[in-house]
Amino acid sequence: MQFNFAAVTAVNSGAWVVGAVEGTGLLPAAAKADKLSGGAIARAMPLCQFTGKSGQVLEVLAPAGVKASRIIVLGLGKPERFDTGAAEVAAATAIGRLKGSAEKEITFEIDTPKGGKVRGAILAAHLAVGTRLKTYAFNQYRTKDLSEHESKLEKITFLTGDPVAARKAWGRCEPVANGVLLARDLVNEPPNVLSPVEFANRVKALAKTGLKVEVLGEAQMKKLGMGALLGVGQGSERESHLVVMQWNGARKKTAPPVAFVGKGVCFDSGGLSLKPGASMMGMKGDMGGAAAVVGTMRALALRKAKVNAVGVIGLVENMPDGKAQRPDDVVKSMSGQTVEVLNTDAEGRLVLADALWYAQTRFKPKFVIDLATLTGAILVALGAEYAGLFSNDDRLSNRLIEAGKAVGEPVWRLPLGKAYDKLLRSKIADMKNIGGQQAGAITAAQFLQRFVKDKMPWVHLDIAGVAWQDSEQKPLIPSWSTGWGVRILDRLVSDHYEG
Ligand code: BES
Ligand code: MN
Ligand code: ZN
Repeated sequence: MQFNFAAVTAVNSGAWVVGAVEGTGLLPAAAKADKLSGGAIARAMPLCQFTGKSGQVLEVLAPAGVKASRIIVLGLGKPERFDTGAAEVAAATAIGRLKGSAEKEITFEIDTPKGGKVRGAILAAHLAVGTRLKTYAFNQYRTKDLSEHESKLEKITFLTGDPVAARKAWGRCEPVANGVLLARDLVNEPPNVLSPVEFANRVKALAKTGLKVEVLGEAQMKKLGMGALLGVGQGSERESHLVVMQWNGARKKTAPPVAFVGKGVCFDSGGLSLKPGASMMGMKGDMGGAAAVVGTMRALALRKAKVNAVGVIGLVENMPDGKAQRPDDVVKSMSGQTVEVLNTDAEGRLVLADALWYAQTRFKPKFVIDLATLTGAILVALGAEYAGLFSNDDRLSNRLIEAGKAVGEPVWRLPLGKAYDKLLRSKIADMKNIGGQQAGAITAAQFLQRFVKDKMPWVHLDIAGVAWQDSEQKPLIPSWSTGWGVRILDRLVSDHYEG
């Protein structure tokens, strides 16, 4: 699929996409299309009750007087609410409209609405972002009916007053979109293919883009004392791995890095505390946190971000087996703290305990943010709209909350506190790995906090509700996996930690 940014010119083939705003009506390109087609748009508007509201679409096929094969008019809503996110969604709406069509070419000619928040080149770049995210498909495992699932689009053009500036803006956005698609691919891969070993290999392959990648196997982790992580992988036929990625883009090479840590449970059967069949489906996605970290590191490297960043992901498979960890086992973590494992299905926190400790002791980062599909309880609390945020640091939390709003990956902060922490008391070890019946997402976060060093700014993002979606719900996400996390982390970095 080829993306072009070009100066405004006549559209002579394919779909021609123009815009209209609520109230004031057709924007200049739409008015031009209406005029050329002998008023076809104006006549069609009342027939389909098109008023320019956000999300509305009006389509005129094979209009006389116009060489384009169709005109698509997008409702852009109120100009004062038209921002980069709305531009992305608008482009995605047009792409969605062409699903199943034979159209090979699409040309966007969306003028900046008067009073709109996003103009010119930036608008064009974000139309491209929406297009890239919405044309994603994961078809590696289909051998039949491919044409039903594949977009026919070959050439995508964005007409704009300043194509040079638009191309430059896209140059900053494209790496991030590609990071999202990489995360989606990893989450979509089936677990027979994407074992901890294969996952580590795929990250190694990214070393080409300037990322430094190290892979630690079980022997090395054993030496480091990572008994919590290793216990989880102990029932699997496939070796557990810890993958460390480094991007050193800051002017000051020795500046402390920002650190991202991801839960990479390539399949979560629950272990001996086996999940019921229905709850096990989708547990290939239990590495969504790790995928987000990899996607983010790739985005930072591709756009040559002026920051030092490290990504640490714990890759394991949680399986029942004669060698598997038992409920009642006690393991010793790298931090020296011991954990009574009362439920082998509360495995993510065990993996993160060692990955968090490793990231902090080795890199002494500015802050550490972990991402994990950690609890079903966060789904009960927040559904699929917000990820849960837990933190010991107001400033970092607020920065993430703002970044999330800006990129359409919103997060909601939940509390931590001593009273919750007490629920982790164990009869024989330093802590147990489950709390009680209630506040499951909080007690999980409370557990992680025990592996956060004094004064280390830390955020935990529970992404169990947002890493994948059961039916196609979100406007920019056409697949099961969402790639959640790449955009918010990249935005946090670009807003506060570069330069
Ligand atoms: N990977 C699951 C959490 C999960 C559940 C993610 C549903 C996505 C959708 C996690 O490892 C888990 O099993 N958590 C348990 C914890 C419990 C045993 C304390 C849970 O949430 O039920
Ligand atoms: Mn589990
Ligand atoms: Zn899990």
